[in-house]
Amino acid sequence: MSFVHVNGELLPEQNARISVHDRGFLLGDGLFETMRAAGGRVLHLDQHLARLSRGAAVLGFELPPQAGLADAVHSTLAANDLASREAVVRLTVSRGVGPRGLGPPLRPSPTVVIIAAPLTAPLPVQQTAITLPFRLDAASPLVGLKTLNYLPQILGRQAALAAGADEGIFLNHADALVEGCASNLFWVRGNLLCTPDLTCGPLPGITRAIALTLASTLGLSVREGAFARSALAEADEAFLTNSVLGFMPLTRLDDRAIGQGKPGSVTARLQAALQQMAAA
Ligand SMILES: Cc1ncc(COP(=O)(O)O)c(C=O)c1O
Repeated sequence: MSFVHVNGELLPEQNARISVHDRGFLLGDGLFETMRAAGGRVLHLDQHLARLSRGAAVLGFELPPQAGLADAVHSTLAANDLASREAVVRLTVSRGVGPRGLGPPLRPSPTVVIIAAPLTAPLPVQQTAITLPFRLDAASPLVGLKTLNYLPQILGRQAALAAGADEGIFLNHADALVEGCASNLFWVRGNLLCTPDLTCGPLPGITRAIALTLASTLGLSVREGAFARSALAEADEAFLTNSVLGFMPLTRLDDRAIGQGKPGSVTARLQAALQQMAAA
């Protein structure tokens, strides 16, 4: 039986309830984190909680204390018998129930839901992507936040899947590369690791930050900047990053292979370094 954490209680999944007046459900007024766990430990939990807390500060409500959230995440893993397995944990925090209308309640009581599930299907060894026909707004107040407003990403993923690809890549209004629907984007040219900088509008991914840190240990120089889509045509290899996929080789964009059209050696070295970090 699966157990879900709802506001401090661990409940069998079929008994888990939130209010129909919850602003997360009605308005997308909330935040989430998707995390990977191994051996009962959530990888980079502090960084996920810090991003959640930055998001709550921007939205203007207070999260329950971080230590309590961390304990709740771990007890959800334990309740689902995931202490010794690879798992994915989703932590959702909404502003909670409020009066009708957009104006937030004066004293919000956030709703916290934590779902943990085993990572069962093997991860793909490579992915393909299309360039999305609609733009991400780098000036949106939501840029950089992992909010419950994921419709552009859902439409993007839907378009990618309909085109037979795995991921959709967003450009912004200045035609600069931004990120995938649920991933950050990197590519390698020679000794240079490139990725869109945060002013272009990507989420400050936890795995993105790890890639940037690992780059120097692998002898790579980093260039964060505003890049046109054509930068990928000149790349030796490319990869997508997120907390579940880690470093995922990206071998094709639209109708063109990237580099040799197969997983690259820098991506493989980064994958090995990430595995070592997880095992440490
Ligand atoms: C839009 C978007 N960008 C980037 C990422 C990667 O972030 P992280 O490495 O923190 O999982 C995600 C994660 O799901 C995402 O949704």
